[in-house]
Amino acid sequence: MNPAIRAVVRTALGLDMDVFGINRGYRGLTENDMFQMDSRNVSGIIDVGGTILKSIRFPEFKEKATREKAYKNLKDNAIEGLAVIGGDGSARAAHTFSSEFNFPAVLIPASIDNDLYGTDSTIGFDTAVNTAVDAIDRIRDTATSHERTFIVEVMGREKGNLALEVGLACGAEIILIPEIEINWDKIVEELENQKIQGKTSSLIVLAEGAGKAHEVAKHLQDKLPEKEIRVSVLGYIQRGGKPSSFTRNLATKFGVEAVRMLHNGNHGSMVGIKGGKIVHVPLHKVVSNKKSPPLDNLEIVKLMDI
Ligand code: F6P
Repeated sequence: MNPAIRAVVRTALGLDMDVFGINRGYRGLTENDMFQMDSRNVSGIIDVGGTILKSIRFPEFKEKATREKAYKNLKDNAIEGLAVIGGDGSARAAHTFSSEFNFPAVLIPASIDNDLYGTDSTIGFDTAVNTAVDAIDRIRDTATSHERTFIVEVMGREKGNLALEVGLACGAEIILIPEIEINWDKIVEELENQKIQGKTSSLIVLAEGAGKAHEVAKHLQDKLPEKEIRVSVLGYIQRGGKPSSFTRNLATKFGVEAVRMLHNGNHGSMVGIKGGKIVHVPLHKVVSNKKSPPLDNLEIVKLMDI
């Protein structure tokens, strides 16, 4: 998110706009925790993970009284537009808030889940994919040398996009995602077939929302006592670290476009990328449509598993 903040601040200053950074997202908006930013506030952050403005889950923003406070703070500070950086929850809040108070807002999509309708990619997704792939490549060395079956749990409480991308890139034999219920018989059959295929190790990439890795491992171990099944939960390493060049450039392009949109009075939308081109997607469409996960990856994984 930092390269996006940098791009928003510098593009806005270049257009002679004043810029305020709001700490902890909607919470800072409600508590009037904001400060005026200049170009030096965003120096040296293009390669830094996370966000210098901090981030928090703030369910209180679902209450109208909370949003009214936020609106008052914006008015008191003479703020005329919002560039919101965030995922699904931030999109819903931006849509509700901007329609309720007719307040100009543009969403810059950021999520390692890459689950927002209307954009091929979100800030952070490519970085998280690469981080997970790098970690799993190392795990594979043990899987191969020790002839084990590994279940690697990646993030994705509700969506399997990260698991689908990571699993394909790591040459996983099986990918399990929240969108598809686990078919235990099929997994056992696939793992048993590996003997016939001459395979001595295998990798299952599991999205956290599809089941807990230790429970999945226990279940499979009971059915396949001859296999040595091990678990690795990647956890929060996927949420941090240096952003990839793809993420940095996407974030920069999104930040620049978001400010241009606000400046031109073109708001109530998300900035996105489709087929390599920057696009604008109305917020009501973003929040009322679901992005389909790349289920083709499952077929490709199957094709590769011979
Ligand atoms: O929404 C993005 C996400 O990274 C999910 O994939 C993950 O389950 C969740 O956030 C973790 O969020 P928290 O740290 O707030 O529990």
